[in-house]
Amino acid sequence: MNRFLFTPTLLLALSLVALQAAAQKNPVDAEGHQWWQHAVFYEVYPRSFADGNNDGVGDLNGITSKLGYLHDLGVDAIWITPCYPSPQVDFGYDVSDYENIDPMYGTLADFDRMAAEGKKQNIRIIMDYVINHTSDKHKWFIASKSSKKSPYRNWYVWRDGKAPNQPPNNWISEFGGSAWKFDPTTGQYYYHYFYAEQPDLNWNNPAVEKAMFDVTRWWYKRGVAGFRLDAVDTLFEDPDLRDNPVLPGKNKFGDPNTQEIYNKKLPGVHEVLQNLRKVADENDAVLIGETWTKSIDELKKYYGEHNNELQLPMDFMFTRVDKLSPPEFRRQIAAADAAGGWPTWVISNHDIERSYNRYGDGAHNDDIAKLMAALYFTLRGTPIMYYGEELGMENNDPKRKEDVKDPKGRTGWPADKGRDGERTPMQWNDAENAGFSTHEPWLPVPPSYKTHNVAAESKDPNSVLEFYRKVLALRHTNSVLLEGNYSALNEEDPNVLSYLRTYKGNSVLVALNMSGSAQKASFHLGAQGASPASLDPLVATPGAGANGPEVTLPAFGVFIGEVASR
Ligand code: GLC
Repeated sequence: MNRFLFTPTLLLALSLVALQAAAQKNPVDAEGHQWWQHAVFYEVYPRSFADGNNDGVGDLNGITSKLGYLHDLGVDAIWITPCYPSPQVDFGYDVSDYENIDPMYGTLADFDRMAAEGKKQNIRIIMDYVINHTSDKHKWFIASKSSKKSPYRNWYVWRDGKAPNQPPNNWISEFGGSAWKFDPTTGQYYYHYFYAEQPDLNWNNPAVEKAMFDVTRWWYKRGVAGFRLDAVDTLFEDPDLRDNPVLPGKNKFGDPNTQEIYNKKLPGVHEVLQNLRKVADENDAVLIGETWTKSIDELKKYYGEHNNELQLPMDFMFTRVDKLSPPEFRRQIAAADAAGGWPTWVISNHDIERSYNRYGDGAHNDDIAKLMAALYFTLRGTPIMYYGEELGMENNDPKRKEDVKDPKGRTGWPADKGRDGERTPMQWNDAENAGFSTHEPWLPVPPSYKTHNVAAESKDPNSVLEFYRKVLALRHTNSVLLEGNYSALNEEDPNVLSYLRTYKGNSVLVALNMSGSAQKASFHLGAQGASPASLDPLVATPGAGANGPEVTLPAFGVFIGEVASR
């Protein structure tokens, strides 16, 4: 055998080929795309989606009963936020057992029934993987805290204080106050990036890694199609626990502003992601990341140098475009599209004010909701919806501090009212409690449920819901929207965001009027590679249309059309 065969470079090249082969397992089309590249994902907040046993809190049987609705809407996979046993301090993000279901939501048998029904409806199940921390009631933490000699001691991050009554360093919790809590049993502090009831796991300990990886295998065996990875950038801490640099001013909780360079985005994260990806690839599964990034370079890193980390790192910079501004969206889309991975689009979730409120102008909110849907369903990449977004559900923020359920909303009141507003019950019909439950729900429904609900909107061809159905149907069947390249059009237009998607010589043009006045946009498609053309509408809002290569759009109007050479 030729010694040359085994040079390190060649070995590296061979392993890369093997990696790519693994990543290209089970393609769904000639382009080598995987199921998650064609799928539409939908986030379900289980407390608030559907209440099968009418106790005021949603549950798995409730979700199962609505899978038919989700299938008809055009959803291919649901990501369920944590439904594991939990003291519910952070409404499930404090997990006390990773391999079970909280009785409030049902049982493992209910889970299996939901997954079986999902199979029938072609809806895959994605679990939330709370990887950075457990609940303080998890058996690992209870053991860890019991004694310095506990075999579980090193599963969490314990340190002595700097001096009497002083935490080990100046790190601040995301939810307010020091990120360290003193535990009198052993006289040491433990680290918690989130609430004190959410102690951070010590990912430097191989036993932690093994136990947590086994959790993913356990759920894969149960039929889940992947995980949404919670708070990935907080997995590792500087081993020397250096103080973070202090910036001027205070944050909304009254704590010093710090630059989190020693407790966030440490390089170890990528090794964990690469290893998790290997297990995911063995199971044809997808890893979605809660990846808060400040730049495209940061986002790129989460795909992995060889696209061997997260398949779908969520692009939250997109949610930070805080007004309907074509130039800002253009910039953000172009950067994400060119980042080298498959873009992942999100406009709302359980931690962010609903897009209906963020972009609504008070007069055209439904039109704007349609516009935003048209935008992120027609870009190259995978969209992740948030439940109720398809109805134009709005935030219902608490009016009084004493009504707040999310603890961070009580600490931060009134600067931060917490996240109750975006977590209210799904609006199924105009009956009491929006048809979510016959019992008073855990959070009140907003008044808009009378008009914005599944039953009413299903009967109105101009509703937000019917628009979602149309665009989602188009997205599933139009190969240009599924595969095509993205190119920006009319980049100087301050009002209309437009772009072309092109695949195998066919093009779809999308024109979105982001202004409150009627607009016309003319397209010189010859320059983009298509010959002089006219536009055949695929989906358009009332009053929007094309005459040759010119599109007319009412305020916040949407036009999606096929470019036809005549
Ligand atoms: C993530 C979740 C959020 C939770 C936090 C702590 O950011 O999305 O809801 O509070 O992690 O687990």
